[in-house]
Amino acid sequence: MSQTPSSAQRQILVTSALPYANGSIHLGHLVEYIQTDIWVRYQKLRGHQCLYVCADDAHGTPIMLKAQEMGISPETLIANTSKEHQADFKDFHIGFDNYYSTHSEENKQFAEHIYLSLREKGHIDSKVIEQAYDPEKEMFLPDRFIRGECPKCGARDQYGDNCEVCGATYDPTELKNPVSAVSGATPVLRESEHFFVNLSHYEAYLKDWLAQDTVQSEVAHKLKEWLENGLKSWDISRDAPYFGFKIPDTEDKYFYVWLDAPIGYLASSKNLADKQGWDIGKFWNADSDAEVYHFIGKDIIYFHTLFFPAMLHGGGFRAPTGVFAHGFLTVDGLKMSKSRGTFITARHYLEHLDPSYLRYYFAAKLGSGIDDIDLNLEDFGFRVNSDLVGKVVNIASRCAGFITKRFDGKLAEQLDDPDLYQQFVAKADNIGEAYEKREYAKAMRQIMALADLANQYIDKKKPWVIAKAEGQEAELQAVCTQGLNLFRVLMGYLQPVLPTMAEAVETLFNTPVTWAPTPLLAVNINPFKPLLKRIDPKALEALMVKPADKAASKPAKAAKKAKPAKAKAPAPEGVAYIDFDTFAKTELKIAKIITANEIEGADKLLQLSLDLGEDKPRNVFAGIKSAYPDFQSLEGRLVVAVANLAPRKMRFGVSEAMVLAAGSPDKGLFLISPDQGAEVGMGVK
Ligand code: 2FM
Ligand code: ZN
Repeated sequence: MSQTPSSAQRQILVTSALPYANGSIHLGHLVEYIQTDIWVRYQKLRGHQCLYVCADDAHGTPIMLKAQEMGISPETLIANTSKEHQADFKDFHIGFDNYYSTHSEENKQFAEHIYLSLREKGHIDSKVIEQAYDPEKEMFLPDRFIRGECPKCGARDQYGDNCEVCGATYDPTELKNPVSAVSGATPVLRESEHFFVNLSHYEAYLKDWLAQDTVQSEVAHKLKEWLENGLKSWDISRDAPYFGFKIPDTEDKYFYVWLDAPIGYLASSKNLADKQGWDIGKFWNADSDAEVYHFIGKDIIYFHTLFFPAMLHGGGFRAPTGVFAHGFLTVDGLKMSKSRGTFITARHYLEHLDPSYLRYYFAAKLGSGIDDIDLNLEDFGFRVNSDLVGKVVNIASRCAGFITKRFDGKLAEQLDDPDLYQQFVAKADNIGEAYEKREYAKAMRQIMALADLANQYIDKKKPWVIAKAEGQEAELQAVCTQGLNLFRVLMGYLQPVLPTMAEAVETLFNTPVTWAPTPLLAVNINPFKPLLKRIDPKALEALMVKPADKAASKPAKAAKKAKPAKAKAPAPEGVAYIDFDTFAKTELKIAKIITANEIEGADKLLQLSLDLGEDKPRNVFAGIKSAYPDFQSLEGRLVVAVANLAPRKMRFGVSEAMVLAAGSPDKGLFLISPDQGAEVGMGVK
């Protein structure tokens, strides 16, 4: 999928998913932009031509309605949002080569070109379909704009496509007592003609594209399943009123936002190419041998691996070299939530903390797969302070002062330990490979292991002791020169993650930070200035303050003085603490396994029916199959269940609780059972 680093210059075009133009950038978005930016900066550092393009995703019903609600035109809304987004990205050091908009002339041209090419080749069908219509607002309603009672569990005020309470998915027509979220009117069914891309025509092409190692193995698995089930035609039209591009040869039909959104990658490339005077065919022609990569979240795999490659192919363009999906961000183990105060916008973060901290923390957590990553605030503070400040910056701060004060800023002519220096540069290939494969956590571990070695070297040599001894000037200069050069190698490795710190280091050394450099000897450096401060625990607390609490904690409005927060011990490496309040929310209950069954197509799961002493049993999917090949023996056994876990929709159905188990990779999993005397339904909350 991606190539190993080579000395030949590669031509690479990279994109991140386009953020919608009706909301602020938040930390969840930043996982992707930081992940992509690190990869792009790494490629540039290695001397490749790598262009990073993006844009705002400016079309669709939500944007149209939000502008109406605000009493402004959609054009004004998207212009304002674009400014806000670009300021956030800049302040997080996301180095786009171009940031554009899908509401642009270039995008209109590409969207029309692709649509007309597909139509000409007979890949577009039209069909009259029935859809929910708001008779008051006089518009068709997307599923998300219909609310009503869940047909399965009866929960009120659920979306038109799925229930947040029981996880059921359904058709909006099944919702009980539906209302339009726009006007409150009862939707009616109305017919309208829609255009569909006949994706099944692209099945062979897509299979061939996927066979070229274009996606991660987890994704390939999913796609194989979709392809085996047959590709459904894709509805690419929406009726007026709609904010988007009108479909050629129609009066009142618009391209669905997801048609022109990814085409925005082409439009942003074209906009950049025109500014710089090159031809986008270099990247996008069907026979281009340049590389194109899309970084995306795992929720939009379908669009990027089936629809978009088909659109590109239909329009005579090439499909991407690779699509890299990543997982979601959780905060302290849970989905970001406004009510918990964990829905953190980019700007709110920037008001309290340095962006380099988050860039490093995400890098230290990111692998190449699609697992979610967790931002645990205590771990965050501890890891940044310990690695970046305590290990990396510490090397320079322990050596630079002596060079400035005792040697007028001049480095020694020789290193004290050239072999140790060699050991540092010899890691370049391993660290480079980890960056290339998006295994940033692995790269950070290797870099921090080197930082430990550099600190051990300084601890052993004790420059502060040599400095006090008479006649050991040359040794002092050589040891500090060694320490600073080791630091400079580390900063070369860290530059993709910490570009602004690398710039400050370039000022310190009067020379660019490069990948695996030759030693810097017998030249003058500038006085050392602090490169990064420790994270202030107060700033971390402020990050979680909900907007409502913020006002309440102001002295004038506060009912009583806020208690000072208790100092908490930092979690040991690899441990993500939860606080007591979070734990106390867990409701444990004794349950009896009524039935245990295998599930066709699931390697790890067993389907359990659990009696928790309630009206009806609960359905639970538990990843314990490998530990219980004789799963029927589980029937009748008492276990401990987490009774208040929100129902989760899984591939095979909804899981309504969790059974507790513990184990180890070599010995397997063991279900936890209560002592004798325990009864079904007993619980501690
Ligand atoms: O899911 C989203 O936030 C979309 N705005 C992403 C679009 S990515 C690309 F296809 F444009
Ligand atoms: Zn429901």
